[in-house]
Amino acid sequence: MTTLTLRGFQIMKGRLGPERQRALVADLREVARAAPFFSPVTPWGKPMRVRMTSAGRFGWVTDRRGYRYEPRHPEGMDWPPIPDSVLRIWHEATGLDREPDCCLVNFYGEGARMGLHQDKDEADFGWPVVSVSLGDDGLFRIGNTTRGGKTESVWLQSGDVVVMGGEARLTYHGLDRIRFGSSALLPEGGRINLTLRVVT
Ligand code: SIN
Ligand code: MN
Repeated sequence: MTTLTLRGFQIMKGRLGPERQRALVADLREVARAAPFFSPVTPWGKPMRVRMTSAGRFGWVTDRRGYRYEPRHPEGMDWPPIPDSVLRIWHEATGLDREPDCCLVNFYGEGARMGLHQDKDEADFGWPVVSVSLGDDGLFRIGNTTRGGKTESVWLQSGDVVVMGGEARLTYHGLDRIRFGSSALLPEGGRINLTLRVVT
């Protein structure tokens, strides 16, 4: 495993081996059974290209009413608990006792991407955000703490874990594209990204 630091983003390449990745996928299938993936729209009414769901006390949602955390899935059910396999990654990566309130699960199918944005719907930016990549490679772009300026990109692969804390916590970031079919982890292809956040 090697860790590279890019603009404060701690990128742990190959942090999770194949066995842990497969166990995570099995646990995430259970999450999706309890809280099905949905297709979100931005507050401006534009459909997002990822499908999403969450686990934890809160889930992140977006619709015409805005970006926010909600204690329930849009269909009304509670979010399932964050699997232990996921919590373990948080504790290993951050060393914190405090557990995350939300595990946002984003699924990138063929052609999906996510524009540059900040994660700023949480109450306290002192807590880091931890990201986990599973499945197909994704081209992650890192910008600045304000909109615009030069950016740098790095391919995230299955098993990579990224910690966004300190100066990186409010840095713009996004996912330009995936290499569909580059990983055999998900039989139908695609990429899963988990982000673990302390919300309250
Ligand atoms: C995100 O910022 O929510 C997604 C990042 C990623 O897909 O790697
Ligand atoms: Mn983000």
